[in-house]
Amino acid sequence: MDLGYKGKTVVVTGGGSNIGRAISLTFAKEGANVMIGDIDTAQAENVVKEANAFKAGGKTITAKCDVTSLDNVQAMFKKANDEFGQIDVLVNNVGWDQMMLFTETTPDFWNKVITINYVGVLNCTKTALDYMIGRKSGAIVSISSDASRQGEYKEAVYGGVKGAVNSFIKTIARENGRFGIRANVVCPGVTVPTESGEIGEKSMWKKAAEFFTPEQLEKVAKAYPLRKIGKPQDIANAVVFLASNEGAGHITGQILSVSGGYSMV
Ligand SMILES: NC(=O)c1ccc[n+]([C@@H]2O[C@H](COP(=O)([O-])OP(=O)(O)OC[C@H]3O[C@@H](n4cnc5c(N)ncnc54)[C@H](O)[C@@H]3O)[C@@H](O)[C@H]2O)c1
Repeated sequence: MDLGYKGKTVVVTGGGSNIGRAISLTFAKEGANVMIGDIDTAQAENVVKEANAFKAGGKTITAKCDVTSLDNVQAMFKKANDEFGQIDVLVNNVGWDQMMLFTETTPDFWNKVITINYVGVLNCTKTALDYMIGRKSGAIVSISSDASRQGEYKEAVYGGVKGAVNSFIKTIARENGRFGIRANVVCPGVTVPTESGEIGEKSMWKKAAEFFTPEQLEKVAKAYPLRKIGKPQDIANAVVFLASNEGAGHITGQILSVSGGYSMV
């Protein structure tokens, strides 16, 4: 099936590492123009090189962008629009957490989790809508987490904030469907990088790997009906489908878990 990405522009936040990297590369393989907005310029540049080597018809570029800054976000979208002439898809992929019992967390930690995972989504969605509403076309996919659906151990603040993302995106879908704009959510389960080159210095997997030892991953896999841990490509496949008007043109306001059956909501 041709998902119709030739000539389309896709903005992927945090597109340098792990899930975001797989999303950027998959859109590039589909022939889309891709803007990677990331704080890690070096890692984003690596992905730009990989993506452009496909020669699939589109072009991938990057801009240094901290999604918690509305100014940074607006500059990143402007660069994409100046280069490619339109904005068709936003993937709100940036996310951050550190696994801790709630009783061990501090207000500074809460603020960091809320700002990166929620305010970042607000900044990017607002800016994307400013481009999409006038054109009466667009698709937004936000990467949330099964932690928003399952009451996950050591992910209290993050799970709560990802739940806010789910609710926010439903309202975005309801308010903007009349403009031909769709908005959906993908909730990954545990999704590990498979090689060290797949993550940059700012990836949360630099620390998360300490918690998710091979033994721990084996335990997690046992809790999943499909008995296996997710790969970044599993998430990318769902995102590329949901963002496509050809593939998912009548799907909006939905939350899709891609977690081996862990969440069944
Ligand atoms: N990997 C998992 O197991 C898992 C599970 C559930 C949900 N998720 C969600 O999937 C998404 C991607 O996760 P991942 O594992 O690929 O993360 P990651 O930490 O490996 O990569 C995140 C990327 O975002 C960039 N980044 C971080 N903060 C940023 C900011 N403020 N502005 C711009 N860029 C920033 C980093 O440089 C990095 O390239 C996140 O929303 C995460 O919450 C991941």
